[in-house]
Amino acid sequence: MVIFGAGGDLTRRKLIPAVYYLCRDRLVPEQFAVLGVDRRELDDEAFRERLDGGSREFIGAELDTANWQRMLQCVHFLPGDFTDPDMYQRLAGRLAELTEADGMAPNFLFYLATPPRFFAGISTQLDRAGLLEESGGNWRRVIIEKPFGNDLQSARDMNRQLHEAMDEHQIYRIDHYLGKETVQNILAFRFANSTIEPIWNRQYIDHVQITVSESIGVEGRGSYYDQSGALRDMIPNHLLAVLSIVAMEPSNSFNADAIRDEQTKVLRAIQPLSHDEVLTSSVRGQYGPGILADGTRVPGYREESEVAADSKTETYAALKLMIDSWRWAGVPFYLRTGKSLPGRFTEVVIQYKHGPNIMFRDSLLKREDVPPNTLVLRLQPNEGIGMNFNAKVPGHSTHLGTVQMNFRYDDYFDNAPTTGYETLLHDCMTGDATLFKRADNIEAGWELVDPVLEVWSALPVRDFPNYAAGTWGPTAGEQLLKRDGREWRACEACHTNVT
Ligand SMILES: NC(=O)c1ccc[n+]([C@@H]2O[C@H](COP(=O)([O-])OP(=O)(O)OC[C@H]3O[C@@H](n4cnc5c(N)ncnc54)[C@H](OP(=O)(O)O)[C@@H]3O)[C@@H](O)[C@H]2O)c1
Repeated sequence: MVIFGAGGDLTRRKLIPAVYYLCRDRLVPEQFAVLGVDRRELDDEAFRERLDGGSREFIGAELDTANWQRMLQCVHFLPGDFTDPDMYQRLAGRLAELTEADGMAPNFLFYLATPPRFFAGISTQLDRAGLLEESGGNWRRVIIEKPFGNDLQSARDMNRQLHEAMDEHQIYRIDHYLGKETVQNILAFRFANSTIEPIWNRQYIDHVQITVSESIGVEGRGSYYDQSGALRDMIPNHLLAVLSIVAMEPSNSFNADAIRDEQTKVLRAIQPLSHDEVLTSSVRGQYGPGILADGTRVPGYREESEVAADSKTETYAALKLMIDSWRWAGVPFYLRTGKSLPGRFTEVVIQYKHGPNIMFRDSLLKREDVPPNTLVLRLQPNEGIGMNFNAKVPGHSTHLGTVQMNFRYDDYFDNAPTTGYETLLHDCMTGDATLFKRADNIEAGWELVDPVLEVWSALPVRDFPNYAAGTWGPTAGEQLLKRDGREWRACEACHTNVT
C-alpha cells in the first residue's frame, strides 16, 4: 500500500489507525507493507517515529503495543516530490526492492491522500512508470480522496484524466461516509426487513430530511474551506450518498455495479433545479460570532484564520429536492448541512403521512394533536434507529403522547472503534467497489449541484453573516420547510453533544 501524502493529517489521524486495525485483526495478507511518499526528508525509522508519536492517540485505549510495533515494522518511507517524474522511477525501484525482499505477490494499492490538484498528475506518472499495469493476475488500484472536482466540468475533466491512466475498475473514489456501519445499515434495514420496504414510498411517506450538523467551525481548514463552502464540501458527496441509499430501488444482487447502478439511477431521477427554483429551493448561510450551548463564545466565520474578512463563502446550505420516480413523486427530500450549529449529529428522518384519525374525530383531539409517525436513522452519534409513534396517555380522557421505540447499536453489537476507513481499505484490497463512487455517480451528483453554484455565484449574497454560531442557521433554512407546512425535526442529541 503506497500512501501519497504520508506526512499529512489524513494519514496520521485515519489511515495509519485503519491499517493498525486491519493488521491487528489479520485482515491484511501476511506479506504486507506500507510505503509512505511525501516531500518530507525522512527515512523509514524517522517516519515510524513520527507515526508512533502522531497516530497512537487516534487509537487510544484500544492500542495493543505488540500489534502496533508489528504494524510499524511494515511501514517504510520514500521522500520525493509528486511532480517530479524521477521520483516515480525511484518509487518503482523501492517497490521492487520491498516486494522482492519479502517474496510478495506484487499487488499495489496507491492511496492518494494528497490535495486534489495532484490526483490526475500522480495517476499519469504512475501510468508512465508502468506501475498501473495489471498482469499475471496481480492488481493495481488507486484510491482517490475527496473532493472529486469542484463542479461538473472539473469532475468530468478529472474522470477523463484518470481514465487516460487506468481503467474504471482500478479507480476507487472514496467517500468515508459510506464506510460508516450505520450508513450501510440503511440498506440492511430497508431490504432485510419485510415490514419496512412496503411502506417506503410516496403512499406512506410525507417527506425525508437528511441533516449533517457540525458544532465546530472551520478549525484551521480556513484556506481550503473558503474556496469550497458547505455546498461543495458536503452535498455532492456525503449527503447525496446518503440520499441515494435511502431512495434507491432494490438491486437484483449485492454486486458492486448492480448497487451503484441503482444509486446513479436515483440521482439521475432527481429534477435538477431550474435557476428560478434555486431561489426558492436552496438556502445559504454564514455564521457570525455567537455562543455555543455550553457557553463558549466563538468568533464568526470571517474572523477565522485564512478566511477572507469579507468572505461570501457559505457555511450552511440547505436544499429541497424532488425525485421523479413512481416511488418518490411528490415526496420532498430536504437536505441541510452547516457548521457552528448547536450540535454534532447526522441523521435521516422519514416522516410518515397522517393517518385518517377517524377513530378520534368525536374526541377533543384535533388533527395536529396526533403527530405523524417518524422514523429516525441516527448515523452519528448514538448510532441507531428510533421510531416515534403515538400512545394513549393513561387516564380517563383520550390524550395521546408521542413515545419512542429505540434501537441503539451499542445495546446489541460490540461497536468496535473504527475510523470508517478500515472497511473501505479492506474492500479495496479485496476488490469490492460497492462503497466507492463510480464516475457516473460522481457526475450525476455534480449535475444537481451545478445549477445552485451558478445561481449563487451570479447573485452574490448581501446578508452574510446571517446566523449566529450556536444557532440553527439562517431563518430562510426554517422557511424552506415552513412554506410547505413542515419543520425540521428538533435535535434530541444536541444538548449532550456540543463539541
Ligand atoms: N484530513 C482529513 O481528515 C481528511 C478527511 C477527508 C478527506 N481528506 C482529503 O484527503 C486529502 C489529504 O488531506 P490531508 O488533510 O492529509 O492533507 P495535508 O495534511 O495537506 O497532507 C498532504 C501531504 O502531502 C504533502 N505534499 C504536498 N505537496 C506535495 C508535493 N508536491 N510533493 C510531495 N508531498 C507533497 C504535504 O506536505 P506539506 O505539509 O509540506 O505541504 C502533506 O504532508 C485531501 O484531498 C483532503 O481533502 C482529508
